[in-house]
Amino acid sequence: MNMITIKNTQTKTNRVNPVFTDLLKPDVETVFKNDLYQNKVYLKDEYVKTKDKDDETPYFEQKLTYTKDGRLMDERGYAVMMEWEDEIMKRQAEIICRNGGDILNVGFGMGMIDTYIESHRPRTHWIIEPHPDVQKKIIEDGWLKKPHVKVIFATWQDVYKHLPKFDGIYIDTWDEVFYEFHENIENILKPDGIYSYFNNPRDDEHGLHTDPAEYQMLEHKMNMDFEAFEIDWVSDWDTQSPDGDERYWDPTWTTYYAPVFTLKQEYR
Ligand SMILES: C[S@@+](CC[C@H](N)C(=O)[O-])C[C@H]1O[C@@H](n2cnc3c(N)ncnc32)[C@H](O)[C@@H]1O
Repeated sequence: MNMITIKNTQTKTNRVNPVFTDLLKPDVETVFKNDLYQNKVYLKDEYVKTKDKDDETPYFEQKLTYTKDGRLMDERGYAVMMEWEDEIMKRQAEIICRNGGDILNVGFGMGMIDTYIESHRPRTHWIIEPHPDVQKKIIEDGWLKKPHVKVIFATWQDVYKHLPKFDGIYIDTWDEVFYEFHENIENILKPDGIYSYFNNPRDDEHGLHTDPAEYQMLEHKMNMDFEAFEIDWVSDWDTQSPDGDERYWDPTWTTYYAPVFTLKQEYR
């Protein structure tokens, strides 16, 4: 069995007490914070605004749909992942698999990057995914049957302090604050390991999908390189969201800046 199950003993006021198999570090704690399920403090302002609407269902409780034309949509009609991002995932997989070895991908979505990671024949391939509909897809597509694939059904916030070290890490969970993930990065990245993330260029002209505090911390710890390449096509606004709501990816952004980060010597 290569799936890690977290038994959720959450009550209204208690935090979650997950129970892990032996795949995580032996010193694993039994009490984790799980704020994401409870109050969404990790979500960025823009997203929180829509979450605050009375009729809004939290993301993890929404029904997601895999469409026939290659999109993963939430129940309001907003894209979670889209087929046109395939080229980005291919390049991102190539970057994090440059050293081979043990690879971590956070956020399965449509499994594009995970499929490309497999083509690089990693020693182990770890996937973290908390959404029940995506978990169902992971199971249906047979990922749990691959002996070298370890699937963790949880948020990264649940488990990030208890992961082993990896040769390559990619995170693409969309619209979260990654401060704690980056704060802990040297504890889960091997000395020569490569870290990368989904880099939506909307945040600033340099194409950095990080807020200033996160960026400062990364800059302090890591050698930061970006490999720029052109994207052949981006699908139109109307396939990305309902009512022409423009907040996913501007079709005029055709350059992608793939982060290639390694630890500075003093953090190795
Ligand atoms: C944009 S999709 C990832 C797409 C993926 N890179 C691919 O190649 O198909 C984002 C995924 O992250 C998952 N996710 C959202 N919040 C998460 C969290 N806190 N921890 C782990 N995964 C999360 C979502 O359920 C979704 O499956």
